[in-house]
Amino acid sequence: PSSVTSIKSLAESSALNSVPSAYAFNRNPNEEADPNDPEFAIPIIDMSLLTSGTPEQRSQIIHDLVKICQEWGFFIAINHGVPESLMKAMIDACHGFFSLPDEEKKEFKSGNDVLEMFKYGTSYNLALDKVLLWRDFFKVRTHPEFYSLYKPATFSEVSMEFGKRTREVALEIIKAISESLGLEPNYIYEKMNMDRGLQLLAGNFYPPCPQPEQAIGIPHHTDHGLVTLLIQNEMTGLQVEHNGKWLTVNGPANGLFVNLADQMQILTNGKYKSVMHRATVNNKATRISIAIPHGPSVDTTIAPAPELCEKDGKPPKYLAMNYKEYIQLQQSGKNYMKTGSAFDQ
Ligand code: SIN
Ligand code: FE2
Repeated sequence: PSSVTSIKSLAESSALNSVPSAYAFNRNPNEEADPNDPEFAIPIIDMSLLTSGTPEQRSQIIHDLVKICQEWGFFIAINHGVPESLMKAMIDACHGFFSLPDEEKKEFKSGNDVLEMFKYGTSYNLALDKVLLWRDFFKVRTHPEFYSLYKPATFSEVSMEFGKRTREVALEIIKAISESLGLEPNYIYEKMNMDRGLQLLAGNFYPPCPQPEQAIGIPHHTDHGLVTLLIQNEMTGLQVEHNGKWLTVNGPANGLFVNLADQMQILTNGKYKSVMHRATVNNKATRISIAIPHGPSVDTTIAPAPELCEKDGKPPKYLAMNYKEYIQLQQSGKNYMKTGSAFDQ
């Protein structure tokens, strides 16, 4: 498996009409949800009501967030202010990178430390993966340090603006979440040292797969940060777990998908949910997704907020830990994915 260069090259090889055994993945047998069932109507948050609504409109959204964060850990943000043209330019720039010849991309290959400024690879971690994933990826850091990827030529300019605009949205969400918990609006920002908060831009490339049910793009997992935003090209594939079923996320065009991640669950002592999600693949067209995880600064000590534990009369459920150590533990393989994942097979 470690000789695989990219799933893109493999999928483009004309002989491929079935999933090679190294990629054969036993899916978690949870059922798929019926998207027309009102129980699975994905919550939508109108961001313009948070930023420029009346005080009543803002309070209503903050009130709605309580339930959404407890029951879903996922919503779609609309009217978020990130221009459609910028989202499209970012997808195009990612496509441009993945379309470089393997030889050229190889010069960007790197180790597996999550804190590297740039990583490019296929699957998840070829040294650890027991089953290979139907995806190529890169991860580039955009905050607090900005890594300037020089291929394709437009990439840096677009990613700088895109990183800046999506960070504004994430910080607005984090502020509203603080308030929804009955805390000061800037509580999470300050506690998590968000002025130096980690922001990554993670591009995923999922080429068409001849047997999409037999493979997986990314097995089920939760993210390690506070909130992750996500955009995709015209193909769906993201599924979130809700009420024990997998729901394919299909939302308003130009919406930003927003999922809460582990640090939000830890900070709220389990009140808010880090949602389990995965990426499926299809046999029609390449899917590109860009996840933009936002976390604390890497030197932050993460622990349940004492104010919340006190208010809810519950002892802390999670041990205090350094965020950087948390990431390293998660990405060491054993803890990245929960039981039943690619690594356990
Ligand atoms: C991810 O979980 O990082 C990406 C999921 C997706 O491609 O939609
Ligand atoms: Fe994820």
